[in-house]
Amino acid sequence: MKVFIAGFGTVGQGVTEVIASREEFFNKRYGQSIKIVGVMDSSTYVTDSGGLDPLKLVSVKKETGKVGKEKYTDALKILDSVDYDTLIEVSPTDYKTGGQGLKNIIHALETKKDVITTNKGPLAIKFGELIALAKKNKCKLKFEGTVAGAMPIINLCHDNLIGENIQSIRGILNGTCNYILSKMDNGQPFDQALKEAQQLGYAETDPSGDVEGYDSACKVVILANSVFDRNVTLSDVSITGITGITEEAVSLAKSRDMVIRLIGEVGEEKLEVAPRLVPKGHPLAVSGTLNAAQIRSDLAGPITISGRGAGRMETASAVLSDLISVMDDRKE
Ligand SMILES: NC(=O)c1ccc[n+]([C@@H]2O[C@H](COP(=O)([O-])OP(=O)(O)OC[C@H]3O[C@@H](n4cnc5c(N)ncnc54)[C@H](OP(=O)(O)O)[C@@H]3O)[C@@H](O)[C@H]2O)c1
Repeated sequence: MKVFIAGFGTVGQGVTEVIASREEFFNKRYGQSIKIVGVMDSSTYVTDSGGLDPLKLVSVKKETGKVGKEKYTDALKILDSVDYDTLIEVSPTDYKTGGQGLKNIIHALETKKDVITTNKGPLAIKFGELIALAKKNKCKLKFEGTVAGAMPIINLCHDNLIGENIQSIRGILNGTCNYILSKMDNGQPFDQALKEAQQLGYAETDPSGDVEGYDSACKVVILANSVFDRNVTLSDVSITGITGITEEAVSLAKSRDMVIRLIGEVGEEKLEVAPRLVPKGHPLAVSGTLNAAQIRSDLAGPITISGRGAGRMETASAVLSDLISVMDDRKE
């Protein structure tokens, strides 16, 4: 198994470390380890068809800020310059156009490579087209890490709940908003809670994608398309973020033994992201950066999962499960 990693930030480096730390596991299960034959960041790349040293890649990036010595301008040419089986696409999310990530994914699928991605933008914009392209070229397109990091919601619905009629999924799909709302539960105003989230590295310098609900909405689109077999995009989701939530609203909720949480919801008729009142003690009333989701299906009834929605190793865990799934399929 030869992989090319596009994007070498938090997730790309986490995945690389996990590939190194699971070498024995891969050898035992498949009789081979995973070779990283190419990596690119925003401006440099490094390739070696014999395999690159994963830990050296991470240390070079840390020391120099760049993964390779060679600069590039055409990412697709770099992808074509080395033979690989699976593209791990972990470059930044662009909700509006899909960005370079979308181009990389299309190119990999067109050249009959499997793709694993944590990049929400391409899937929120072109889900149907990407799935069709993967099917046409008999490739895998796996994306567990695009929704709720380590919380295995997509594979749970696809694998364990296969055959069930899934009626709805409601959940907290953005840890940054949940952190801010949890701080507001304790009396902090929105601006102060947001500033704290930025200082702790949970929120971006430009936090609009999170607090205005677009990040959660992308995840709602991915769930609707992948679990409910719908064909929707971001413009089909009714989106309300958390910027309008006042301290008064939070106190009023508290006086009724409730909390306010940003809930993404996919139902047969529903596609929505909005702040909702959740009773204290309810499985979705989680605090801090946690994500949580309640899946309702005809046989199992409600199933609730919660877990870390972001982070270096947490997101790498989702990529690892996708890698194993791709390798298991190749083994058969
Ligand atoms: N972090 C999380 O916990 C998490 C969780 C779930 C999903 N995700 C998604 O996973 C993806 C990666 O997230 P991240 O946190 O690792 O981001 P990040 O830390 O900002 O790293 C992004 C990496 O992509 C590189 N890059 C930028 N433009 C590129 C391009 N055109 N082609 C190739 N590489 C490019 C950057 O290069 P430089 O190093 O040169 O700047 C950097 O190495 C994003 O789509 C994000 O939404 C992240």
